[in-house]
Amino acid sequence: MRIFIDTASLKEIKEAYDLGILDGVTTNPSLMAKEGITGKQAIKDHYKAICESVGDGDVSAEVISTDYAGMIREGEELAEIHPNIVVKIPMTRDGIKAIRTLSDKGIPINCTLVFSAGQAILAAKAGAYLLSPFIGRLDDTNWDGLELIDRIVRIYDIQGFDTQVLAASIRTSLHIVQCAEAGADVVTCPMKTIEGLFKHPLTDIGLEKFLADYRKGNPEK
Ligand code: E4P
Repeated sequence: MRIFIDTASLKEIKEAYDLGILDGVTTNPSLMAKEGITGKQAIKDHYKAICESVGDGDVSAEVISTDYAGMIREGEELAEIHPNIVVKIPMTRDGIKAIRTLSDKGIPINCTLVFSAGQAILAAKAGAYLLSPFIGRLDDTNWDGLELIDRIVRIYDIQGFDTQVLAASIRTSLHIVQCAEAGADVVTCPMKTIEGLFKHPLTDIGLEKFLADYRKGNPEK
């Protein structure tokens, strides 16, 4: 399972990349706005800077257009920024058509805002490289986000679809573990949920004891 960080913050991306466990980045218009990145050129420059921070990792960059022609134009422009760019297209009627066209041109697509298995089937049929079901937002509305990941993974497996399942809208470290168990190909995580994976009190207690015992036998060190 690949691990992406879900942020537009260069600081957080560097922090995760330096851990040696980062495989890519996802952004969305809300995350870009949170970093104060506005204006067409500034947005492009920021995507380039992100791409240059993650080796050969995928970087998802989302279109703002909602019509087919606009998505194609924007998707092509985004793809030109850097070879790492994966164009993010929303799961709409025009979006599915745009996914087909851009995928046929060899541009990798992340189909975003996915909330059902039926939508997942359409995106795979259209040739999406990645599919982003939003599990946290489903959980927030009393639907089971993980159940959806499990279902899509099974469908893609049974049908032999190549589209990879990228579990998005991750809220907790436990979500990451559960997505791994469900067979997600990728999880995109806020930094705090990656941090949570490190934590276990027995690790801290165990290390403290090992070092205390070492110091007893080596008082000068
Ligand atoms: C990433 O691709 C998604 O846009 C993101 O995970 C959405 O997360 P949120 O539901 O926390 O906004």
